[in-house]
Amino acid sequence: MKPLVVFYSRTGSTKKVGEAIAQTLNCDSEELIDTKKRGGPIGFVRSGRDAREKALTTLADTKHDPASYDLVILGTPIWGGTLSSAIRTYITNNKSTFKRVAFFCTQRGTENKQLFDEMQALCEKPPVNILALQEKEVKKGAFQEKIRQFVDGLQAQ
Ligand SMILES: Cc1cc2nc3c(=O)[nH]c(=O)nc-3n(C[C@H](O)[C@H](O)[C@H](O)COP(=O)(O)O)c2cc1C
Repeated sequence: MKPLVVFYSRTGSTKKVGEAIAQTLNCDSEELIDTKKRGGPIGFVRSGRDAREKALTTLADTKHDPASYDLVILGTPIWGGTLSSAIRTYITNNKSTFKRVAFFCTQRGTENKQLFDEMQALCEKPPVNILALQEKEVKKGAFQEKIRQFVDGLQAQ
């Protein structure tokens, strides 16, 4: 298995999870950089609106070609029940090269069915595994066991 972990993170939680998954799998990772300003209260409002409108954004250049990996693990914070603009853009631009996919998210609440259904529809393939973590458990650092189970699920496929 040659996985690539690709994630977007506005405030660091999804990044923490993405890096932990990549470290556990000892694989490459790619942090997406959104060129649109997302910081502060204005960035928060803009991000919510963009998510609602399913707007795409402009990403900074990426380092890794997803076509040379047999599993792409995609991570995003939930915005308004759906995908962040950066991961929506990355999937839209690269999905034709994905062989297999897995998804993870971080969120404040607990509802994530719409997000994962939408990621599956956008990728046009079902995920081999999914992982949802709450921001508060990520902040506490209490998520290693869930990462291990997620990674075991990937390796069992
Ligand atoms: C614009 C916006 C909308 C959000 N909408 C939701 C939501 O619908 N449900 C939820 O549980 N969390 C929501 N959140 C909270 C984030 O998903 C959560 O804080 C996440 O862990 C942030 O990840 P990050 O630090 O990687 O950016 C929202 C955050 C933002 C900025």
